[in-house]
Amino acid sequence: MDSSPKPSLFVPDPETARGSRIPDYETLYAASVADPESFWGNLAKELHFTKAPRKILDWNPKTFEGRWLVGAEGNICDNALDRHVRDGFGNKVALIWAGDGGEEELFTYGRLLDQTVRFAHILKKLGVGKGDRVTIFLPPTPGQVIAMLACARLGAIHSVVFSGFSQAALRSRLEDFEPKVLVTADCAYRRGKRIPLLETARAARKGLTSVEATVVVPREGPPESLEPGERSLTDLQTEVRFAGPLPSVPVTCDDPLFVLYTSGTTGKPKGVVHVQLGYMLGTYATARTIFDLRDSDVYFCVADPGWITGHSYIVYGPLLNRATVLLSEGTPEYPDAGRHWSLIERHRVSVYYSTPTTIRLQMRFGDSWPAGRDLSPHRSLGSVGEPLNPEAWHWLHRVTGGKLPIMDTWWQTETGMIMVTPLPSTPEKPGSAGRPFPGVVADVVDSSGHTLPSGETGTVVIRTPWPSMFRTVFRDPERYRKYWTEIPGAFFSGDSARRDEDGFFFFLGRVDDVIKVAGHRLGTAEIESALITHPKVAEAAAIGKPDELRGEIIKVFVVLHPHAADTPPAHDEIRKHVRTELGGIAEPHEVDIVISLPKTRSGKIMRRVLKAREMGLPEGDLSTLED
Ligand code: WT7
Repeated sequence: MDSSPKPSLFVPDPETARGSRIPDYETLYAASVADPESFWGNLAKELHFTKAPRKILDWNPKTFEGRWLVGAEGNICDNALDRHVRDGFGNKVALIWAGDGGEEELFTYGRLLDQTVRFAHILKKLGVGKGDRVTIFLPPTPGQVIAMLACARLGAIHSVVFSGFSQAALRSRLEDFEPKVLVTADCAYRRGKRIPLLETARAARKGLTSVEATVVVPREGPPESLEPGERSLTDLQTEVRFAGPLPSVPVTCDDPLFVLYTSGTTGKPKGVVHVQLGYMLGTYATARTIFDLRDSDVYFCVADPGWITGHSYIVYGPLLNRATVLLSEGTPEYPDAGRHWSLIERHRVSVYYSTPTTIRLQMRFGDSWPAGRDLSPHRSLGSVGEPLNPEAWHWLHRVTGGKLPIMDTWWQTETGMIMVTPLPSTPEKPGSAGRPFPGVVADVVDSSGHTLPSGETGTVVIRTPWPSMFRTVFRDPERYRKYWTEIPGAFFSGDSARRDEDGFFFFLGRVDDVIKVAGHRLGTAEIESALITHPKVAEAAAIGKPDELRGEIIKVFVVLHPHAADTPPAHDEIRKHVRTELGGIAEPHEVDIVISLPKTRSGKIMRRVLKAREMGLPEGDLSTLED
């Protein structure tokens, strides 16, 4: 280990800073919050609308609805694809796909548009129009991106479900979303292993009447046999072969683009609703200025489009900026620990947007993997999902040449866009996510909403609306209201942080019952609900336990039914049960079978006590403990 003292401040190269899109953060920030409508309105002028906005923002402080670009008509797919083709960039590479098994495919903007139009024709043929819902259950492949863009083109609402979810998790999302069409694949590949996606989709949709058709995209090839209601993409493509153009459907400021399910504090994931036009403005502006995207860039974000990071910073944000996007299907350690470094070298990646867990994993694999590679095109680095610890920051900085800015970007599914982040022109403090993006009013407050002085830890709120803010929680407006009433009038993020004397944010973790495992967001209640469906489990509690690699791991405590006491289930059986119920990312790492759980007198499980015990910390105030 390198024990030399680490600098606590990184000052970017003045040349890079001057040449970036926000060369003077302080001045721009002050202007942006003094007059947010001008700031965002000017950025909106860079996008194409069939009808210009009448008003930039209409904020309703009673319903907490932020309507951005009121009166405008336009379409995000038109802006992400057609606009660039019209501008003469049809031959520029839009998407480089790197498959799990080493396959590679290139799509120019022209070809991506053509494929999107064809897919839109297919969806239309299946009865999908403006406002209709489509669930996309696909591995990270070009088909996934195309399906999303095709929905957007039609003004339909997509809900992408991460392909690693189990059938039960997919089913609960289908039940809530009630899509007309489900798009899936014959299979997925992960670390060289074939995953039977179609079987999962079949089991998940059994008996659900909303799904009129299932489109099966060939990952390996067309499926051998189809069940009623299933259509092979290959056949459907033949049917629309000679269909002509299909212009994008203009939508207004209230029309949804997608619903993405994310974990909260209750057992049921919530459907976060984003609308097309505001989301377009927020993701366009942030991708443009934070990653400073240029025509010469190759941009690689390691997420899966099945999560918000992929929605905003693989698909929409970068394509709106006419970037060349590298989409990797695989994991950072397959076929070997050099996977990302070799992709970066081979495709001359200039912007690499990664995650702390990936960086720490690479760090563990060692310097030899990045060493000796030609990383000369590299211009900037990014991280998201959990706090980037200073050690990982320094390691990444060093192995990439010691000169590149690292954007530790803080945001959430609900915010849709990056909210707190360094910029290529601003100084960085390793361990800090920097300061708020222009136009964003982020604050650290106490429980009554008062701003805390620097150095004190509190909860993070956003005080004013931002363009890509979520509009509601699907079928659950009350849950949406809760975000704005916890601290009256401000958006409650559920995160804790402190600010230093320079206004830099240091994020510390969640204040609610949400766990972050390798950047994945999981609700303790969700895991507990899954555990108690096991026939031998009577009660369960889940906590996040700090872990050097993954940030947190899942530890569960279970109380067995009396009848099961003589034949306790193996720990492995319990872990597998959660895996089946929710998917691999929710599989507990540690299981303890206990006699009872600490509870309050009103019967609420005190996870805080379990966690303190687990970590050997003081248990705090136990006055409400039952016994
Ligand atoms: C939660 C949101 C937004 C993209 C991926 C996750 C944590 C995210 C950071 C960061 C510290 C971070 C927060 C947040 N988080 N980025 N840079 N530093 N924490 O989206 O699944 O909605 O999770 O991820 O706890 O609330 P998500």
